[in-house]
Amino acid sequence: MIRPSTSVDIVDGDHVLKAGRRLLWRVARTLGNAGARWSWNDQFRNGYWGGLQYRRRTVVSLVEQLAGGGDIVEFGCGEGWLIGAVDPGVYRTYVGVDLSPVAIDVATRRARQAGLVKCRFEVGRFEHWSGGPDPSLIIMDESLYYLKPRRQRRLLRRCLDRLDSSCRMVVTVHSATRHRSTLEACRRAAVVEREVHDLERVILTLRARNEFSLREKAQATVATVRRVHRRRLGARTTVT
Ligand SMILES: C[S@@+](CC[C@H](N)C(=O)[O-])C[C@H]1O[C@@H](n2cnc3c(N)ncnc32)[C@H](O)[C@@H]1O
Repeated sequence: MIRPSTSVDIVDGDHVLKAGRRLLWRVARTLGNAGARWSWNDQFRNGYWGGLQYRRRTVVSLVEQLAGGGDIVEFGCGEGWLIGAVDPGVYRTYVGVDLSPVAIDVATRRARQAGLVKCRFEVGRFEHWSGGPDPSLIIMDESLYYLKPRRQRRLLRRCLDRLDSSCRMVVTVHSATRHRSTLEACRRAAVVEREVHDLERVILTLRARNEFSLREKAQATVATVRRVHRRRLGARTTVT
């Protein structure tokens, strides 16, 4: 016969082990790139984030509304659960970036099995990301707050500078209280077009404060230079 105290001891022991592991992951994340990579790989190997697939509906429909047939970039895509649930008809291409090779392997395999040919997954730190076309939508689902505040601000600025006036960025945090400073950084860096609260969870839709992105400004400058050039050529032709 099992004494009640024994089962309590077992539960407590398991609890302590899990808490110890979580602490180890947290400490490892502070030890630079290698530590962070080990920490995330270990979490994914242990199935710690497997439950994320069940809390997606609001973000999925938001992505479907905002993608606009363009190019999506997701920073901190994990095992790719989000894009796996999005209707592939709403976007042209998708790139998921994550620092965990374990998560990226799972994401790549799942996308291949599901026939998601427009999706690509890359191992990398999102604060170093520079490739790809200017996206129509950038997603940071439960990932921005892993950066230190200064890096958060820098990344937000870089992302928002690249978004054309019709494009958007979606940032989610699971706790408005714990991630208050991340929400503040978003509110300061961008115009909050929509803010959804689901108990403690917050989903922000952001657009750039500047009316035009760097690309749109560059295009406008090129168009002006061409116009002036054409006018000058025209004037010269008339004189001769
Ligand atoms: C809480 S998980 C969320 C995963 C995924 N967005 C989801 O909701 O299913 C955070 C993710 O961010 C990634 N991550 C954290 N810091 C990162 C960084 N600096 N660069 C790239 N990925 C990072 C982790 O590897 C992890 O996959």
